[in-house]
Amino acid sequence: MNNKQSLLASLEQSRERVLELLNSLDAQQAKVPYLPGINPPIWEVGHAAFFFERFILQNLDKTPSYNPALDDIWDSFELAHEDRWQEGLFPDKPDTLRYFDDTFNKVKQRIETKALTDSDLYLYKYAIFHLNMHIESMVWARQSLGYAPPPYASNNTGAENTRSIDHNDVEVPAGRYRIGMPPESAHYATEDFCFDNEKPGFVVEMEAFKISKNLVSNAQYLAFIQSGGYEEDQHWSMAGLKWRDSHGARHPLFWKKENGIWLERHFDQWLPVQAELPVKHVSYWEAQAYCKFAGRRLPSEFEWEVAALGNREQGEFNKFPWGNTMETHRVDMDSTHMARLPVSALPEGDSPFGCRQMIGTVWEWTDSLFFPYNGFTMDMYPFMSTLQFGDHKVVRGGSCATSSILIRGTYRQAYTPDRNDVFVGFRTCAQ
Ligand SMILES: [Fe+2]
Repeated sequence: MNNKQSLLASLEQSRERVLELLNSLDAQQAKVPYLPGINPPIWEVGHAAFFFERFILQNLDKTPSYNPALDDIWDSFELAHEDRWQEGLFPDKPDTLRYFDDTFNKVKQRIETKALTDSDLYLYKYAIFHLNMHIESMVWARQSLGYAPPPYASNNTGAENTRSIDHNDVEVPAGRYRIGMPPESAHYATEDFCFDNEKPGFVVEMEAFKISKNLVSNAQYLAFIQSGGYEEDQHWSMAGLKWRDSHGARHPLFWKKENGIWLERHFDQWLPVQAELPVKHVSYWEAQAYCKFAGRRLPSEFEWEVAALGNREQGEFNKFPWGNTMETHRVDMDSTHMARLPVSALPEGDSPFGCRQMIGTVWEWTDSLFFPYNGFTMDMYPFMSTLQFGDHKVVRGGSCATSSILIRGTYRQAYTPDRNDVFVGFRTCAQ
């Protein structure tokens, strides 16, 4: 995304995606009920446009606001989450789409006609990536609400796979490994765009560890459920018990048992739980309890990154398990398979140590709290990371709903440990 053409292509593709997500909802569906993990989709589209307006048009050109009365409505830090459901607060869909189109056309024209400086490119990318974060949240909202999958998703409901799945560990040797984006990445690095929380990179001395080659599968998780894992307090931490009891959790969020058969809701369809698919929509507390039951532990975020990238202190730096550029045929992202491939699929995405599906499929819980790296400096958008430091757990790798243009192995996402509505799963380490 380093020249005008590829920037315009990303802008256009992101625009198409978000409009497809919105326009495939009928008027009734677009009026979503209040849920803590989602947003009204019309507000989300207006908010994404506002980000472009605020950080590009207003910031760079001092362009007057499209509608000053609405600035505080589209700004997520001015309008509290619950308030986004107030009747009549923001414009209706046609007016919001006019605002969205007007803003996008101005941004497009700006890219086409003005010189592309490094700092401008950084802002364009930032706004496009922010829009793609909202594309992901619009996808998980559809899952939360039981709506149809994204219209551009493949219709893969998962084929039964009888191949035996390797539940073995891979061994990662001790050594000095690089974490984060290289310190030489400038603040406005355009080749190596990254968010503030990935910088500055550093070297860690790691002991050897063993980590599972594959994600935890439904079959493995079922063994936990069937052995009484949810009922037996000994598997749960104090905070985990509190979460389990307050939510009455007895299985992953979108599972149910009917006539003795476990079913999983995949968007608007109830499908049999398939043994070889990755378990997903589990909270950190469930992942932690599973580990206790299985005599395992969650990786730290450094272990996860080393297992995924294997960037040694001396040697080439790679952003992906297979090299330095995103290659979408190696991953389940952009809503292609929606985490409905076996955990043994996609060997072409293996890490240098043989770990599979580390990028895409599901975000992976780590045992690490989200903190800034030493030398952290806040980006232009002060809330990309800072609000989550201290009480969120780090998840890594992106999910099937994440846009592939957004991700790399150093990317850090953070969720509160109770989140199970997002596409999140986990892999484990030997103790
Ligand atoms: Fe946002």
